[in-house]
Amino acid sequence: MPTITYIQPEGTTQAIEAEIGSTVMETAVDHDVHGIVAECGGACSCATCHVYVDPEWLHRLPARDAQEDGMLDCVIDRRQSSRLSCQIEVTEEIDGLTVNVPEAQI
Ligand code: FES
Repeated sequence: MPTITYIQPEGTTQAIEAEIGSTVMETAVDHDVHGIVAECGGACSCATCHVYVDPEWLHRLPARDAQEDGMLDCVIDRRQSSRLSCQIEVTEEIDGLTVNVPEAQI
């Protein structure tokens, strides 16, 4: 199973084995990753699953679609690396993905 690493703003890390076909958000929620609330349950309408993707992964993930891009305008401190974790599907190709939980969500 692919491993995804979540890094908290103060540096705590959680490396979690994720199920293929789930999402980076669902994996976080299932393992109580602090700061990933996911109020809308993955419908791309709340932005409480915002993460910063490690720069190494920026161009290795499928691009944001227009809906995700629009929702990211709602987050505090949007960056080039901002993604909604509910929109990142877990596949073998994302094994090793690292994401940072935004300080604003803590
Ligand atoms: S869970 Fe609501 S936008 Fe991702």
